Amino acid sequence: MVTQPVVHGGRVHQVAKAFRRSVDSFMDFSASINPLGPPASVLRAMQQAIPACGHYPDPSAEGLRKRLAKEHGISSDSIALGNGSSELIRNLPLALSLRHGYVAAPTFMEYEESLYLAGARCTHVLANSGEQYAPPMEELSLLVDAICFSSQKAACKDGESHTAVFVCNPNSPTGRVVTARSLRTLYRKIEEAGLWMVVDEAFIDFCPSYSLIKEISTARRLLILRSFTKFYGMPGIRLGYLVGAPETVARIRRLLPPWSVSHFAQVAGVAAVGDVRYRQRSVKFMRQERPRFIRQLRAVSGLRVIPTSANFVMVELPSTCVTAGLVARLARQGILVRDCQTFSGMTQPALRLAIRHPRDNNRVIHALKKALREGWD
Ligand SMILES: Cc1ncc(COP(=O)(O)O)c(C=O)c1O
Repeated sequence: MVTQPVVHGGRVHQVAKAFRRSVDSFMDFSASINPLGPPASVLRAMQQAIPACGHYPDPSAEGLRKRLAKEHGISSDSIALGNGSSELIRNLPLALSLRHGYVAAPTFMEYEESLYLAGARCTHVLANSGEQYAPPMEELSLLVDAICFSSQKAACKDGESHTAVFVCNPNSPTGRVVTARSLRTLYRKIEEAGLWMVVDEAFIDFCPSYSLIKEISTARRLLILRSFTKFYGMPGIRLGYLVGAPETVARIRRLLPPWSVSHFAQVAGVAAVGDVRYRQRSVKFMRQERPRFIRQLRAVSGLRVIPTSANFVMVELPSTCVTAGLVARLARQGILVRDCQTFSGMTQPALRLAIRHPRDNNRVIHALKKALREGWD
């Protein structure tokens, strides 16, 4: 059971207050947000939406759901929108009456937190440092086999399984990705066993070929989470969605408060999805900057760089490193990074670094080099 509140990256407001500095004076590598920032089309759409503030937003957000449905080639009643995908994650275990979640870890802590808050158990299935945190697909597969042959099988046959497997793809904080083929194989087993599979694709727009979203209409026990936060660089707007079978989606929508997605978020979402050029620019930027940043990180003595398909990189630090000391030292220099030791199942000291503009990335590399040479206290 998590006894402390879950820690997240992106705590720039709190840190700025503690250091009595402005938010803008920090370079935030701790939240993995597209450095191209919110699309201009999104800002324009929100400006035009100001007069509508005097009305409640459409509680069903039909316009945005239809736009997303068209984009993904699915039906609009397979989509639930949330005030960030974290709102949907928080409600998932309750909506599915989960009693147990198997979570591929180390990963985003909200799956674990929401399971506990719903009174369910959480079992981590761990990737390990020796294998560069390759997602534990074989272990998950064996586990589903075991569940299938265990006493829970009876419950599964009722079609009322209370167990779900959670996979974040690409995974945060490791950056590792699972192929759609491998996930599909796991999903078939999960469906046969009558369990649920939840795939969080919050970062998938940076590597869209890995997505399972096109298969949603034939996969009744699959739920996919998506976020506008990371790829569209709009964490402050709060918008995410979940895709699944319409009857399951209806269960989740019933739990959400009315109007949890503001009018601004709805128009921002429609503009973002329609902005093909922004999407192309972002993918191209990341394809260029990611290998450059990784090459530079690999040249820093003491760092072990984990392969990534996302817009962030996890680096392991020397085992003697006091990560909190290093994080504090960098913060004093105006550089925020994510300490990965707060993720359940992490055994090595490690940092997660967002991939930002080349000039910022060069600065964090320089600062890391210096800190690893001079010490972190
Ligand atoms: C893997 C993952 N999923 C979901 C979220 C939630 O994003 P949001 O609520 O902003 O959509 C985050 C945020 O950090 C995340 O890292």
